[in-house]
Amino acid sequence: MCWSVGIFISTYLMFVSGTRHSKFLQTSVFKHFKDFHILSERREIYSLLECTRWCSSTVDCRRILFDKETKLCSLYDRGEHCLTDEEVTDKVCFRMLSICDEVNCERCPIGYYGDRCEHVIEDCSDGRRKSVVPIKVTTSFIRPFNSLQVIEVLCDFDYGGWTMLLVRDTRCPEIDFNRTWSEYSHGFGYKGANHWLGLEHIHNILQDHPNYKLQVFIAYGNPASFAFGFYHGFYVHNITDNYRVSSVSFLDQTAFPIGDSLTNGNYSINGRPFSTYDRDYSNNDCPGRFGSGWWFLDDPVCSRANVNGRRSGDNFESTWHWLYNLGKRTDFNAIHLKVVRED
Ligand SMILES: *[C@@H]1O[C@H](CO)[C@@H](O)[C@H](O)[C@H]1NC(C)=O
Ligand SMILES: *[C@@H]1O[C@H](CO)[C@@H](O)[C@H](O)[C@H]1NC(C)=O
Ligand SMILES: *[C@@H]1O[C@H](CO)[C@@H](O)[C@H](O)[C@H]1NC(C)=O
Repeated sequence: MCWSVGIFISTYLMFVSGTRHSKFLQTSVFKHFKDFHILSERREIYSLLECTRWCSSTVDCRRILFDKETKLCSLYDRGEHCLTDEEVTDKVCFRMLSICDEVNCERCPIGYYGDRCEHVIEDCSDGRRKSVVPIKVTTSFIRPFNSLQVIEVLCDFDYGGWTMLLVRDTRCPEIDFNRTWSEYSHGFGYKGANHWLGLEHIHNILQDHPNYKLQVFIAYGNPASFAFGFYHGFYVHNITDNYRVSSVSFLDQTAFPIGDSLTNGNYSINGRPFSTYDRDYSNNDCPGRFGSGWWFLDDPVCSRANVNGRRSGDNFESTWHWLYNLGKRTDFNAIHLKVVRED
C-alpha cells in the first residue's frame, strides 16, 4: 500500500466567529508525494486553531495541513486526506465539514449542497446536472443512490460530469496494481493520484441510472498523443455475481480512435466475472501472469488489454497495454477509465 502511513483519529474542531460556525473533521496524513493543489501556504501560524481559522476566512478553502513543528499552514480547496512527501509526524490534516451562519451555509465540501450542506450528489454526472459543483477536474464527495456511504471520487465535471474509475498517470508515483480481490473490491490508491475506485463503489454508482457510458482514455508517446473510445451500456453486477461486466457495446467514432480491446469478437469481456490472483475465474492464471485484476477471459489469451498492468513489467503481457490500435506500445503517460450518465 502506498498510503498506509496515516494515523486516523476522529476529532472535530468547531469555532464560532460572529454568527459564523465553522466545523472541521480530522482526517489522515499519508506519506506519498507532495499535494500540488495548494491554495495558499503560510509560516508562523502558531496553532492548529489559527490555521483552521485562516482557512475559514479564505474563499474556497476546504482542507488544511498543519505542521506543529515548522508552524507551516497549508490550505487546499478540496479533498479529504492530506498527502506529503515528508515525514507525517507533527503534521495534522483537517477537512472542512461546513461553514454556516444561522440561516444557511456559505461553503460545503465539494459534492455537498443545500442550505445546510445536507445533500450529496450521487455521482459526477448528477453534480453537473444539478449545477451544484465547480466545472473542473477535482475530487468530490458523492453518495450513490441506495448507498449509505459517502465516498470521495475524482470527477471531471466538464463534458457532462465524468466519474473516474481508474486513474494511472506517470507524473504521480507508481503504485502496485497486482492486488487482492478485497483490494479491488474496496479500492486502493489516492483519489488525487493513481487509484482504482473499487468494484463495490463502481457497482453502486452504475446502479443509479439505467445507462452509463464508459470512456477509455490513453495518453502515450513523446511528444504526447492520445486516443479514446466509448462503451455504451456499461454495467458491473454485484459481488454475488462476482462483479460480472455486461452490456458493453463499443463506439469508436472519435477523432483519436483507440480500437476495441474489450469486446472484440471472441475476445469480449462481456459477461465475464472479475478475477484477481487470489480469486481467479480465468482458469489460466491470467491475474498472476498479467499482474493485475480484470474481467479476464476463460482463455489462455486472457485479455487484449492490460490497463492495470505495470508501467514496465518483466514482459509485454504484464506491462500496461491496449492491443487494438496501440499494438505493442507501452510508452503510456496516462490511462483513465471513467463513466458518464447517458439519457
Ligand atoms: C446481487 O444481485 C442479485 C440480483 O440482482 C440479488 O439477488 C442479490 O441479493 C444481490 N446481492 C447483494 C449482496 O446485494
Ligand atoms: C472464434 O471462435 C470460434 C469457435 O471457437 C472459431 O471457429 C473462430 O475462428 C474464432 N474467430 C476468430 C476471429 O478467432
Ligand atoms: C502478482 O502477484 C501474485 C501473488 O503474489 C504473483 O504470484 C504474481 O507473479 C504477480 N504477478 C506479476 C506479474 O508480478
